[in-house]
Formats: sequence, C-alpha cells, structure tokens
Amino acid sequence: MNSGSRAMIFFSKYILKWYSSHQRNLPWRQNPTPYHVLISEIMLQQTQVPRVIEKFREFTTKFLTIFDLAKASPADVIQSWSGLGYNRRALLLHKFAQEVVDKYNGIIPDSAAELVKLPGIGPYTAGAIASFAYNQPEPAIDVNIRRIYQRHFHGKDQGLPMGKKEEDKLYELVKSTIPENRSAQFHNALMDFGSLVCTRDAPLCVQCPL
Ligand code: ADE
Repeated sequence: MNSGSRAMIFFSKYILKWYSSHQRNLPWRQNPTPYHVLISEIMLQQTQVPRVIEKFREFTTKFLTIFDLAKASPADVIQSWSGLGYNRRALLLHKFAQEVVDKYNGIIPDSAAELVKLPGIGPYTAGAIASFAYNQPEPAIDVNIRRIYQRHFHGKDQGLPMGKKEEDKLYELVKSTIPENRSAQFHNALMDFGSLVCTRDAPLCVQCPL
C-alpha cells in the first residue's frame, strides 16, 4: 500500500476480506501463467465470462504455449477463435505471440510500459498482465473497477467520460490502494466485487459495508 490513508486501507482490507469468502473459481486463475492471463484477457475484452470459460479451456489445450500459438497459421487461430467473435482480436493475439517469440524468446514482458508497445495491447490489458501474471502494483482499470472507485471514493455513479487529468487521478488513486505484494489477488477481488456486488444496474448496497 502506497498511501497511509485510513480510508484507503479500510477499503482494500474490506475488498480482500469479502473476496476470501466470495471468490469465483475461474479457469485462468488456477494457473495464472503470463500466457494464460494473456489469453483470458484478450478473450474477456468483448465476451462474457461464461462463454470465455468454455473457450479458454479449448484454446489453451489446443495451443499449449505461446510457441505453439506463434507457429500456428492465422486460419487455424481464427478457426479456434470461433464463437468469440471479433476475429481481429485473434489476429492481433497471434501477432503478439509471434513478436514475443521473436523479440523476447517467448517470455511475455512484465512491465506495462513494455507491454503496450505490443500488438493488441492497450493500457488496461498491459496493466492486467503486469498485475495478474507478475503481481506488479500496476492498476488495471476496467469498467467494473472504475465504477467501484467512482462510487466509493467520489460518491458518483456512472459518471461522464473522463478527461486525461481525471484518468490520471483515478490511476493514482487505484495504485495507492493496491496492497503490497497482493496486486493479483486484489485485482481479482475487485473484478468479483464489481460483478457480484457493486454491479452497474442493481448494486447490492444493503450487503455492502463499504
Ligand atoms: N474481466 C477481465 N479480466 C477478468 C478477470 N481476470 N476475471 C474476471 N473478469 C475479468
């Protein structure tokens, strides 16, 4: 934790405590290698969790490692992607794998700054890989996490689209709440809290001591 603020410490402690008894069992969390995190994050970009659960198992069984994915043909990758939609994501994932094999000997980089330079990787996905796979204290702010912080720290609901300055502030706020050495677990907790309690349309505020 970077900030000594008691409100932030309370927030993070509560989120982790809640998670200890409510966590979802998702296949990419069982063995969160950088490759597994990569595949799950790209799949989750525009596809719902239940559909991704099925496809994640199939895809990572067919392409066991980043080397297998890199040497597959684009047609084979697209075929294995069927049912997820947005084939462009599959092609960018394939390019990502090839670049990581060529430039990094197949080791997916651990820094968000390095990751955003690679095909198909925006700031969110870079943060997610750094955090989930390498436990780096790097914010990965998706719509659910954004909503939790907006509601809890600013008393706002959905809010208007943010400018660069506000985005930077939110990034610093999230960073300041990441507990030391628990970034992966904390982000998983936030994702589940956003999906199960602090939902967009019908949040379970009566169950939420926050
Ligand atoms: N959405 C994006 N990444 C996720 C994750 N790791 N767990 C659950 N939902 C997600």
